[in-house]
Amino acid sequence: MSIKIAAFSGSLRKDSYTTKLIKAFKHLSPDGVTVEIIDISQLPLLNQDLEADLPTAVRDLHQSIENADAIILATPEYNRSYSPVLKNALDWGSRPQGQNKWDKKPAVVLGCTPYNLGAFGAVQHLRQVLVYLNMQPVQQPEFYLAGAADKFDGQGNLIDEQTKKLITDLWNKFMDLINK
Ligand code: FNR
Repeated sequence: MSIKIAAFSGSLRKDSYTTKLIKAFKHLSPDGVTVEIIDISQLPLLNQDLEADLPTAVRDLHQSIENADAIILATPEYNRSYSPVLKNALDWGSRPQGQNKWDKKPAVVLGCTPYNLGAFGAVQHLRQVLVYLNMQPVQQPEFYLAGAADKFDGQGNLIDEQTKKLITDLWNKFMDLINK
């Protein structure tokens, strides 16, 4: 039986390092796992007035989360927090009230930045929200990709062996959690 993972990038940028990181995770996924990168660019900004008749993009998001056995969340760091597009997706996935689609989903949280601190601040804020959403994130190993500009080639492939090893270690822990 195949395990379905829904992956979310917190960057909409065409050449996003965060999205390249998600693609590297997908590339290194174990046998029997399918990773679908979910497009969150079409989600409207959350407005409770829209809940009376949910937009198609929100319905599609709900379906993607419900279909997934587990979730990958990757975020850039904006002013020491995670990105608003990711928050928007997390919030829509928790609505309408009492219908939190993220409930009990195993997850991994990835921070990514071209700078030095590995998006630590973004990951910590994101992890805090996952507690409230009752998700089950892998706690260790943590994953912070610093210096992302040097970790991918011109085609967007991950070229850093240490990062590949960390991704493989994280996949092992993620699969243990999913199979529990
Ligand atoms: C940034 N950037 C940034 N980087 C970082 O390491 N810590 C930070 O607090 C911030 N703050 C920040 C705020 C805003 C509004 C922007 C637009 C950017 C830089 C950021 O890491 C860089 O633009 C990345 O390339 C964004 O990730 P993607 O789009 O490459 O995935």
